[in-house]
Parts: sequence; structure tokens; C-alpha cells
Amino acid sequence: MKVTVVGTGYVGLVSGTCLAEVGNDVLCLDVDPEKIRILNEGGIPIFEPGLLDMVKRNVAAGRLRFTTDVEQAVAHGTIQFIAVGTPPDEDGSADLQYVLAAARNIGRHMGDYKVVVDKSTVPVGTGDKVRAAIADELKARGADIAYSVVSNPEFLKEGAAVEDFMRPDRIVVGAEDERAIELMRALYAPFQRNHERLIVMDVRSAELTKYAANAMLATRISFMNELANLAERLGADIEQVRQGIGSDPRIGYHFLYPGCGYGGSCFPKDVQALQRTARLDAGMEMKVLNAVEDANDAQKHVLTAKTVKRFGNDLSGRKFAVWGLAFKPNTDDMREAPSRYLLADLFAAGATVVAYDPVAMHEARRIFGDEPRLSYAESPMAALEGADALLIVTEWKEFRSPDFEAIKAKLKQPVIFDGRNLYEPKQVRQFGIDYQAIGRQ
Ligand SMILES: NC(=O)c1ccc[n+]([C@@H]2O[C@H](COP(=O)([O-])OP(=O)(O)OC[C@H]3O[C@@H](n4cnc5c(N)ncnc54)[C@H](O)[C@@H]3O)[C@@H](O)[C@H]2O)c1
Repeated sequence: MKVTVVGTGYVGLVSGTCLAEVGNDVLCLDVDPEKIRILNEGGIPIFEPGLLDMVKRNVAAGRLRFTTDVEQAVAHGTIQFIAVGTPPDEDGSADLQYVLAAARNIGRHMGDYKVVVDKSTVPVGTGDKVRAAIADELKARGADIAYSVVSNPEFLKEGAAVEDFMRPDRIVVGAEDERAIELMRALYAPFQRNHERLIVMDVRSAELTKYAANAMLATRISFMNELANLAERLGADIEQVRQGIGSDPRIGYHFLYPGCGYGGSCFPKDVQALQRTARLDAGMEMKVLNAVEDANDAQKHVLTAKTVKRFGNDLSGRKFAVWGLAFKPNTDDMREAPSRYLLADLFAAGATVVAYDPVAMHEARRIFGDEPRLSYAESPMAALEGADALLIVTEWKEFRSPDFEAIKAKLKQPVIFDGRNLYEPKQVRQFGIDYQAIGRQ
């Protein structure tokens, strides 16, 4: 099938590449000429495991191409995926300007039937807006061309995006006409050979499903973080509690890890957008979600609070090693990352930071520019040299089994604040290290 993907970010590039991998003829469009240049020169603009090889393979096979040419992109695909960003606007609502600009471009240039598929995470009712934007443009041209609008929210996880797209748990398709549903079934058939994974529903329900999923996961995290803070004060161990409740199949083990807050490009903005949709479009407050957001805002400062408790409010002259900058492992994405809040707190209290992350340091350099209080180390161990303490923010695999003797020798004071509960407290303390995790004694 001929497929166009509008927006070549984390979602668009992965979707386009995976659709090419199963034999489709895919053209990816982006307004950012730098991204398209990198892609056309054989690179990829993001870090995502397994993606570069797959891009190269499909480009070489002639099934995957990249362009900034809107007309060419609209002409190419019968199926037009919209996978552009939907960042929060000033009040936290999803900003639809990129989605609607993409829709207008399709209406302006289409010459035959198109299925316009919204893959971006968009508020309930966006399908109607996309349909109206295209209708507007067709009317302005005096053209009468059939098209369908479909909602197909994406559930991939950064860091495992290729695997998630190739082997989805479910494929949600919100559509109201048979022609579009049949095309979507055909497009996704290669991804569900084992059993049917396509769930067809109405457009509004599909749009809400995506927010419901992210809001539920964020709720689990904030709930566990609050419970961890309580366990710490009551003399209980959240790790034991986690296992005690996770073993209940009604609860399950996923997303029960306490830590220093959730971040990334999705949970914070999607929780906010759902709150705003409820408030503005339905006149109701999402009380649970309000609390989820408040708890997370507080949790992003929990490592700071532990540091200040140990070293005092004035951290001037102190140097801290920070392991992990990305919002989670296996990505270089730092959008809303807890590390950003921690670093800002430490700088405000007068401290300097030596940071290490396996892939996100280039992103940190872009974000923090030439911030004089921040420097970078070439290895986790190099970051520790002469630091007052180690703070762990991202659970990268390479941090899981460090040489504790060496850590103790390199730190000025043998203190670890672990925002991801990577180690067994008893084991670390055997080395004479003051080990402080989340919700553990
Ligand atoms: N990142 C994730 O893990 C993830 C997972 C599921 C869903 N989503 C959702 O998918 C959407 C995209 O997220 P992302 O992380 O890929 O964003 P991103 O910022 O990485 O990529 C968006 C891309 O769209 C391009 N763009 C903007 N306007 C355009 C236009 N008119 N024409 C062509 N290109 C245009 C931008 O230049 C950018 O490259 C968002 O709604 C997000 O919430 C993201």
C-alpha cells in the first residue's frame, strides 16, 4: 500500500519504518529540513534501539523515503498518517495547530480518495476538526473528493518502539465508514498474524482510549510514589509491598515501580490535556488526575529533599554526580525528565553537577547550553571523582551492578541517593555507603 506519514519524530519515523518493513511503499514528510537531511544522508535524528538498521534496510530496498515536499507527500499515500507533535499550549490543553496544519495541507493538495489517520495523541473531538479543516480546503478549491478520517492512537514506548509497533498488544482504530476500516485492516494485517488485535470503535472513543491508557499508567506511578513516601515514614519497605500487591493478578506487576517522578513527552502532557478537556469541554473536574499530577510534581523534587536533608539548604561549593538524564532508559528524550527538575534545584541551591548518561548528553547540552554549573563525564565512574554524593535518576542497565568499592573510593562522602531503587539497601550498606532510596529503610 502507498502510505504517507506526516511528522517524522519518534512516532512518525518508527511507524513509517515499520510499515515499510512489511512491504508498504512509505513516504515520510517533515517540516524540519534538518531532520530530513539527516535521514536522507543515512542517519536518524533520534536514538531508538533497532531503528537505524531498519531505516537503512528499507531505504536500500526503495520502500522508505523522506521529503519536505508537501505536494509530493499528499499525492503519494492513499493512507495519510498524521503523526505530528501535540504539545501543551499555555493552559495545558493539547495544541492542535500542527495537526490541523497537516490536515489543511492534505485538503489543499489531494487529488483522489484519502484515508486521513490521526496517530498523534489528540483530544476527543479532534477527528471532527480534522474533517472540517479538510472540507474547508476542498471547498476553497471547489473540489469534491471523498476522504475518510480515522483515529488510530499510538501506544508504542520510546526505548522499545520498534518492538511495540511490530508486535502490538492491540491496534485501536476509530472509524465510522467501512471503506476506511477495510483499508486499515489490510494495512495492519501483517502485524497481527497470530491473532486479531484490531479493536474497531467510534472515533471519539478511540481518541479517549489513548488518554485513558496514559492517565491510568500515570495514576499507578503516582499512587506508588505516595505509598513509597508513606512506607518510608512508617518504617515499611515499598519493595516488599510492591511484590506483595503485584502478585495479585487483579493488580499485576507492571508500572508499580516507585521513583523520582514520571516524565517524558507523553504522561505529563496527556494527564494535563485530559484534565483540561474535562474542565473545558465537559464542565467536570478529574479529581483523581488532579491528585496524580500534584503527587508527581512533588515527587520530582524528592531527591533534592533528601540531598538537602543530608547536606543542608546551602549547597554552594558542593559537587554532585548525577547518573542518568533521559526520562527513562533506552532513549535520549529529556522532555519533562525528572533530571531537569533535579538539576535546576541543585543549581538554585548553589551546587555544581557532573552528569553522565549513555545517550542523552547531547540533548542535555542542547537544553542547558553552556550552563557553567553543569559538566559531563565520559563514564559513570568518571562522574564520581571528588563528588559529594551520587544521585541516580534514570535506571539504565549499566548502572545496575556497579563496583561499590570504587564508588566509595571516588566519592568525597560515601552517599548514594537512588531515585530508581536499583540496589538492595543491605548490600550497598555493607560497603559503608549511606544508601537512600525511595520508600525503603
Ligand atoms: N513519543 C512517544 O513515545 C509517543 C507515543 C505515543 C503517542 N505519541 C504522540 O504522537 C505525537 C507525536 O509525538 P512525537 O514524540 O513523535 O513528536 P516529535 O516532536 O518527536 O515529532 C513530531 C514531528 O512533526 C513534525 N511536524 C510538525 N508539524 C508538521 C507538519 N505540518 N508537517 C510535517 N511535519 C510536521 C515536527 O517537525 C517533528 O519532527 C504526539 O501527539 C504524541 O503525544 C508519542
